[in-house]
Amino acid sequence: TQPSGSEPAAEIGVIGGSGFYSFLDDIEEVRVETPYGPPSDPVAIGELAGRRVAFVPRHGRDHRFPPHKIPYRANLWALRSLGVRQVLAPSAVGSLTTDLGPGTLAVPDQLTDRTSGREQTYYEAGGAVHVSFSDPYCPVGRRTAVSAARASGWDAVDGGTLVVIEGPRFSTRAESQWFASQGWTLIGMTGHPEAVLARELALCYTPLCLVTDLDAGIEEGEGVTMDEVLRVFGENVGRLRAVVADIVEALPAERDCPCPNVLDGIKLPLELP
Ligand code: ADE
Repeated sequence: TQPSGSEPAAEIGVIGGSGFYSFLDDIEEVRVETPYGPPSDPVAIGELAGRRVAFVPRHGRDHRFPPHKIPYRANLWALRSLGVRQVLAPSAVGSLTTDLGPGTLAVPDQLTDRTSGREQTYYEAGGAVHVSFSDPYCPVGRRTAVSAARASGWDAVDGGTLVVIEGPRFSTRAESQWFASQGWTLIGMTGHPEAVLARELALCYTPLCLVTDLDAGIEEGEGVTMDEVLRVFGENVGRLRAVVADIVEALPAERDCPCPNVLDGIKLPLELP
């Protein structure tokens, strides 16, 4: 069931790990259907810093969706259908440089897609739609995120390139060294196609990358393990939640960025929610 009435249910969306449920007050859980099936789980809608926020647990509550099986299209569509126009996307990433150690918060400005076979567009029939993606993230969202994190005492890294691999395995040392040699700085498994689907729906999208490890090619030793990723994420999720709340409070009520206009002049083969 979708909430009734003309007021949008939420204006800001957060797609993140399940550690984010508890940060919303007065939660209502909403089951949303989309043309792409259901999102990862019912969407939790609640109040945060005086704003209406919708939360989708990216991997599902019980973490049943690995990165390559996440229903990315349904997640973004569901958020937009609830009224969301700005999306914050916290995730755990590896680092491809010793400059960015575990516990670093980074807000990249570029993305490289090394996934394969994921559904990555809404516009697969009815005519060609080519959205601009040269700058994949919302400039205002990024600026707001970096300032809010720094104001809280967390010296967020402004910029860098996130390479998104197919997974679910981590990279070999050779792959990792190759990615680093390209100048890419962060590595994850979920940033694509999330960002481009947001762009195709004219949503603002801001990645919040928490570095949990140095990737395999960057340090000697056993390589990246899931234990390490989960441990470092767990150690930092509290302050990440607090920064997300600060960003939510600071995001503009009226969007003043290029994101709402990316589809202007394009004849869309589908009606946006
Ligand atoms: N997520 C967290 N650490 C990662 C890594 N090293 N590679 C890919 N995804 C990750």
